[in-house]
Amino acid sequence: MPSPLLACPVCAQPLARHGAAFRCEAGHAYDVARSGYVNLLLANQRRSKDPGDDKAMMAARAAFLDAGWYAPVAEALADAVLADLAAVRVVDVGCGEGHYLRRLRELSDRPLDLHGLDISRHAVEAAAKRDPAGLYAVAGAHRLPLITAAADALISHFAPLEAAEAHRALRPAGRLIVGAPGPRHLFGLRTLVYETPTEHPEFAPLTEGFALIAETRVRYGLELRDAQAVAALIGMTPYAWAADARERLAGLERLDTEVDVIIRTYERRDLAPR
Ligand SMILES: C[S@@+](CC[C@H](N)C(=O)[O-])C[C@H]1O[C@@H](n2cnc3c(N)ncnc32)[C@H](O)[C@@H]1O
Ligand SMILES: [Zn+2]
Repeated sequence: MPSPLLACPVCAQPLARHGAAFRCEAGHAYDVARSGYVNLLLANQRRSKDPGDDKAMMAARAAFLDAGWYAPVAEALADAVLADLAAVRVVDVGCGEGHYLRRLRELSDRPLDLHGLDISRHAVEAAAKRDPAGLYAVAGAHRLPLITAAADALISHFAPLEAAEAHRALRPAGRLIVGAPGPRHLFGLRTLVYETPTEHPEFAPLTEGFALIAETRVRYGLELRDAQAVAALIGMTPYAWAADARERLAGLERLDTEVDVIIRTYERRDLAPR
């Protein structure tokens, strides 16, 4: 079966599923793993042996998201995608373990063709196991294994984004939904990590080839009251990497902090001629 979205990372021709592999017309083949994902990241595109989130970070994020602490964020993200009634072919770039795509499918009253891409094999493997109806591939945001102008919507939520690649992959008037931290995001946690915590800097809206058509800010307080939830939140953030911070936060049984997420919806426009 030809895939409506996936393209060969070597020659950019469409990929088609043949049994347990995806193939292009030129004969490049990519095996589908037993858990259902396909690796479309070429060895020469990999900067490290095991890029992206490691297994522990991915598991911490999965535990935290499963517990529903970011449910209002997932709903806002789904609303942003579903606002375009023509959005069916949706790709989450940097999808992690697929939480937001699964929630999107649950909240949609129309069938969606969902794809998740992430540079972390651990993330994509977990996502594929949990959503057999979706298609998950190991791939980097800077070179998307996607057919040009075929996706109705792309999601980039707390993940690296290459605007020019997103522009190429989206069909005309397709939507790009970008979720990123607002100034106060997890500020309570940051006060525990840094002596003088600063707010997240404003991130500039995209301009070239995209028109900003909607913006939502999701803000609420998180009151974590058990060590497991606190550990999951710390484990999924970059603070997990700083050994001294990890020590200071170890065993913390309660944490009050804010969620502050900005979700922007862009519509793909033609690029101005150069
Ligand atoms: C903060 S996590 C967010 C995951 C998911 N969007 C979520 O919100 O739960 C960032 C994700 O981006 C992935 N990532 C990092 N660099 C990437 C790249 N160059 N291309 C694609 N994904 C990347 C990581 O492996 C990780 O899963
Ligand atoms: Zn090929």
